[in-house]
Parts: sequence; structure tokens; C-alpha cells
Amino acid sequence: AAPTTTPAAGTGVFSRTRARIAARTLRTDRWWLPPLLTTLGLIAFVAYATVRSFVRTAYWVPEYHYLTPFYSPCLSDSCVPGSSHFGTPFPELPMWIPLGFVVLPFLLGFRLTCYYYRKAYYRSMWMSPPACAVAEPHARYSGETRLPLIIQNAHRYFFYVALVVSLINTYDALSAFHGSGGGFGFGLGNVVLLVNVVLLWAYTLSCHSCRHIAGGRLKHFSAHPVRYWFWTQVSKLNTRHMALAWTTLGTLVLTDFYVMLVASQTISDLRFVN
Ligand code: FES
Repeated sequence: AAPTTTPAAGTGVFSRTRARIAARTLRTDRWWLPPLLTTLGLIAFVAYATVRSFVRTAYWVPEYHYLTPFYSPCLSDSCVPGSSHFGTPFPELPMWIPLGFVVLPFLLGFRLTCYYYRKAYYRSMWMSPPACAVAEPHARYSGETRLPLIIQNAHRYFFYVALVVSLINTYDALSAFHGSGGGFGFGLGNVVLLVNVVLLWAYTLSCHSCRHIAGGRLKHFSAHPVRYWFWTQVSKLNTRHMALAWTTLGTLVLTDFYVMLVASQTISDLRFVN
């Protein structure tokens, strides 16, 4: 049976101009399934990423220079030798600080303020509203005009940082073409790292803020051919933003998991060259 709730006097969908229907929704299909799956998917990723970010084990493969994205860039004296591609400006860190602490908060901010993820967790976790034609439990709505949700407007700045992080991940993926005896090497781990970084770029460039930065506020596209071209490409990617948001959560976990398996010598990397 559809859940019901007592109409709060004159608010939300129960305002006086609406039909007086006591049921929270008249939908009889499984409208709760998409929000439930979204919640489970997000919780699974956050749980995995949190555990892996704190454990400080099996994040670097010294023979092949594979570094998991959760520890990149590794900038402290606590990082295992070789894993710090950009030096160690920070001293040893206590266990409660993840080694990727410099960028993890920004990446979290980038995803949390992402227009797609907002839709996803507003619907599934905040139930605001959980589905079309299903009344939300909240009586009031202040949108994103007050703290804390006004911070959502900082998405563009998180995007700029995400661009830098994508460059760092690209550097990591390229420097991982390293053989066990030194010099060039190429294995399955390289394919995993490369696919991950290409998809991360696709997700980052498909960002709504990126699209606006590329082509927003232009009065005449003809006067800005380069920006118009870039905006056209970004717009194509933008139509896939939701798919890329989920795909990259998956590839991040897979990439980290693969590096973990090789680094812990649970499996050996499939090598094509050296
Ligand atoms: Fe999703 Fe910018 S809108 S990353």
C-alpha cells in the first residue's frame, strides 16, 4: 500500500490550491526502486573509498609504478618510497589522516556539488521528492539559498580543482608504463589505469559548469569559433553525464581494487611488455 501522511496545513503538495488527497502518492508501481538503488550504490562506493583511503596498504606497485587514484598525489613522508610523484612537502601523518588528504576533500566536494549527484541524493536520501508524483516528507523548501546548501554554488571552483587532479591522474597513468627492470613496460594494469583516467576526463569535461565555462554568456558563437567548437564537444559529453558519474565510481573502485590485488601479490599483473 502507498504510504500515507497527514497533510500539514497548507504546505507543499498539501497546499490549499491542491486537490485534497490524503495518500502521499497514488502511484502503484515500484517508484521506490530507483531511489533505493541509488542509495545502495552511493553507500557502497563511500564505504569502499573510506576504508581504502585509510588503510594505507597495497596502494603502490613498485615494480610497475602503479599508484591507486585514492592515494594520488601522495605528498607526505608516510608514503611508501617511490609513490610520491611530486615530492613529500608534508611530514609523517597520523593514521586518521588519509594519505590522499590534499585532494580527497576537493574530489568529494566536486562530486557532492555535482548537478547529477545532487539530483541523485536529493531524491534518494533526502526524498525531496523521492520520485515524480510522490510527495516529499518535508513541509518547507528553501532550495539552495541558505547554508549548508548554498555551498552547492561553489561547484565551478571544485571543477577547477578537479581539472588539476585529472592532470595528476594522467601523469600517474603515463608514468606507470614502467617495466620491472626499469625502462618501458606495459601490462594489464596500464590498461586499467588508462581506461580509468580517460573516463575521469570524460566525466570532468561533461560537467555542467564546464559546459557553461566553455560556451556560456557568449552572444555570438560565430565570433568565438574555438569556444563554440569546445562547447559543442562538451555538450555531447554532457548528455552522458549521469552515465559517466556512475561509470567513474565503478572504474575508480575497479582501478583501486586491481592495484590492491597486484600490490599485495594476491595476483600478478598480466604483462605484455617487460
Ligand atoms: Fe556533475 Fe559538474 S555537474 S561534475
